[in-house]
Amino acid sequence: MAELYCLGIDIGTSGTKAALFTQNGKAVLSKTEEYPLYQPRNGWAEQDPLDWWHAVQKSVSGLISESGVAPADIKSIGLSGQMHGLVMLDADGNLLRRAIIWCDQRTARECEAMNALIGKQRLIEITANPALTGFTASKILWVRENEPDIYERCAHILLPKDYIRYMLTGEFATDVSDASGMQLMDVPKRTWSLEILNKLGISGDLLPKIYESPDQAGVVCAKSAGETGLRAGTVVAGGAGDNAAAAIGMGVAKPGSAFMTIGSSGVIYAVTDKVSIDLAGRVNTLCASVPGGWTVMSCTQAAGLSLKWFRDNFCLKEILEAEKLGMDVYDFMGGLAEKVGIGAQGLLFLPYLMGERAPHPDSLCRGVFFGLSAIHGSAHMTRAIMEGVAYSQWECLDVFAEMGVTAGDMMICGGGGRSRLWRQILADTLGCTISSARHDEGPALGAAILGAVAAGLYDSVGEACEQIVVREKLNEPIEANRVKYKGYFDLFKRLYVNLRSDFEILAVLQ
Ligand code: XUL
Repeated sequence: MAELYCLGIDIGTSGTKAALFTQNGKAVLSKTEEYPLYQPRNGWAEQDPLDWWHAVQKSVSGLISESGVAPADIKSIGLSGQMHGLVMLDADGNLLRRAIIWCDQRTARECEAMNALIGKQRLIEITANPALTGFTASKILWVRENEPDIYERCAHILLPKDYIRYMLTGEFATDVSDASGMQLMDVPKRTWSLEILNKLGISGDLLPKIYESPDQAGVVCAKSAGETGLRAGTVVAGGAGDNAAAAIGMGVAKPGSAFMTIGSSGVIYAVTDKVSIDLAGRVNTLCASVPGGWTVMSCTQAAGLSLKWFRDNFCLKEILEAEKLGMDVYDFMGGLAEKVGIGAQGLLFLPYLMGERAPHPDSLCRGVFFGLSAIHGSAHMTRAIMEGVAYSQWECLDVFAEMGVTAGDMMICGGGGRSRLWRQILADTLGCTISSARHDEGPALGAAILGAVAAGLYDSVGEACEQIVVREKLNEPIEANRVKYKGYFDLFKRLYVNLRSDFEILAVLQ
């Protein structure tokens, strides 16, 4: 019998990755196409959805021609993507403006309006989250207020991966995991919330139909088949937001399982079988990509981004030395930081370079090195950054524990997860075993698995994960180290509390 294939497409912020897998999850080939991020003003972030579509066309047609796989043997497509972005179309399906994406921070005023219209606690009870600038609802209100002629002509609102679904299938559809990041859903009931829509004055007619992630939600239409090389009629799954898709790609499908990403941002994502909401809004609650599952998720805005910022601005010497040795510069910096020892000789780092989301939803706080002395050099600062990001994860995990959500064994992915030192710091501070998936293909594999289930190649997401994902234990926690870190962690937490009002003063000084 001919081999069958599943395609996963992830619409990321820096680029789109299309990856082809056999039905057993073996990676065949992947292609990434990049596109720009537009920042018309400080704090604004936009992308052109047509750039995403062109990237999909190019990567998918390239995959098909280079792999030599017959389009008829590609049984399914799974979509994943950056969450929360606002795509607006007119009645003919034409784009009305560029997408306002997840990291755009222009909507503080609209978040206040949401609290006033709905009530702070009621908003959290229904949508499982406090009003957030990053989420979609406040972006919709911003367009209505500031670009009324565009809002007037808007007939369809979509999330980034769902715009791609529209281009592939002609359907207006989304999935529960991504839709719950729009802040228009009743997250416990997994449907749009009429109460939220009525109070915000947004018509439900603008919104796509919600599916569970492994359900079929469209098939490739004749037009897009011609544009991509795919076979018309190929099944497209509901798919998932990028973190919910990454979870599936790492086999994190059952309640009680969890993973962490140390990418640009730092995410901890734990699957639960009931809705657990933090009424203080310190962490986010969303529907999981597994039917009947929810997730508690924390997002540290600048994790790997902090180390990249430090490398790019202050580590020219290290970059040149690593180059001479033929080493990756992060490995080289990690090697030096390892020699410094726990606590970086009295140096702490608060990773608030991009403001913060969890456990402090605070757009005004900023990064801090605390305790700098003339004995410190770049190795101390590298270690302090890694430890500061780990303390932030520890603080988030303490919120998870308060909510009764525990994670004894943590999967890891993202660039930071490849650093042995950073992983050990995380294992020691969080007090849990850190494992990874042998084949770290990110959200594209998770999306492909959801597609495989939608096409009937597996009975359930859980079964597919068990057959496809291989776990490897990488780091065990060392209790004596955790004890040493504890004093620094307590100070780390106090520093934010003590500085909070000073961050507000700093913001108005500029
Ligand atoms: C999740 C989030 C990011 C984006 C971009 O809430 O904001 O992970 O999905 O990757």
